[in-house]
Amino acid sequence: MESTRSKLIRLLADAKESYISGQQLSEQLHISRTAIWKHMKELEKDGYVIEAKPKTGYRIKEYSGNVSSNTITWGLNTSWIGKEIIHKPTVTSTQFVAHQAARDNTPHGTVVIADEQSSGRGRMDRVWHSKKGKGVWMSIILRPKIPPYMAPQLTLMTATAIAEVLDQYDGLQPKIKWPNDILIQNKKVAGILTEMQAEQDRIQYVVVGIGLNVNQDNKEIPDAIHYRATSLKMETEKEWPIIDLVQQILEALEKEYESFLKKGFRDVKSKWENYGFRIGEKISLHSGSKKKEAVFLGIAEDGALLIESSNGETEKIYSAEIDW
Ligand code: BTN
Repeated sequence: MESTRSKLIRLLADAKESYISGQQLSEQLHISRTAIWKHMKELEKDGYVIEAKPKTGYRIKEYSGNVSSNTITWGLNTSWIGKEIIHKPTVTSTQFVAHQAARDNTPHGTVVIADEQSSGRGRMDRVWHSKKGKGVWMSIILRPKIPPYMAPQLTLMTATAIAEVLDQYDGLQPKIKWPNDILIQNKKVAGILTEMQAEQDRIQYVVVGIGLNVNQDNKEIPDAIHYRATSLKMETEKEWPIIDLVQQILEALEKEYESFLKKGFRDVKSKWENYGFRIGEKISLHSGSKKKEAVFLGIAEDGALLIESSNGETEKIYSAEIDW
């Protein structure tokens, strides 16, 4: 159910420049005028400038750039993703917090977001550098009614949604490196970590972790990954508003998810392939110590990597890394 805080935010947002009286808010939200006043104080703590005009009412004078559950809710155009937002200034990993929340029955679409992570994790147990305020570090709890074998398709769907968001900006031209790295100019700007809790034929929940490098400067990218990592700021020489990006990603993800459930993976596949990095080219793959050279044909109907091996045979690969 939508919280009183987010209903209040929606009412004020819809009113735009106009004032809404305390009486009106109190009637619509079924809470006292004192409670309304307390909510306004909370919004101010979040960085909003609220104008309270005697005998007229309240309106937002200035929007906040601080990430919080309120500032993300404000103007978020989704029906179910992000109806519950858990924001923490610092966490070990939003994945960890999200798993905990999922076990405590938080609803489908809950978003866990942090300003910084002290132990951000990537795929294959790699470290994910997540400095304070420099990127989008968030995990989304999904409870899809699909069989567990389809869960990897959610990763490809998420990658497609992020690529679509970035593609709206001139000059970024994002690509997706199978299965889930988002690249700009051949360098990684975002990654996705999907983790699932499931029984044999039923998913209990999935946590989709998204890391997007936004406002790091060159010197803030660790040396060891410098040659293959970037941020939006490094690519465009400007600061990006984190809240807007979070909202756009959540909106795109909700749309893609609904279309995936309705139409199946086929639609995601063709969108993914539009962004596919090095499709049609010869690639090197490795899985553990095994290496292979092949032509990258695209992705299969189930999301597997489709390659043409050196003997001319078409093969599906479910787990491997494409070398840089
Ligand atoms: C990868 O490319 O290896 C996946 C990176 C995923 C990073 C995100 S940041 C938010 C969430 N919390 C984590 O600890 N990891 C994911």
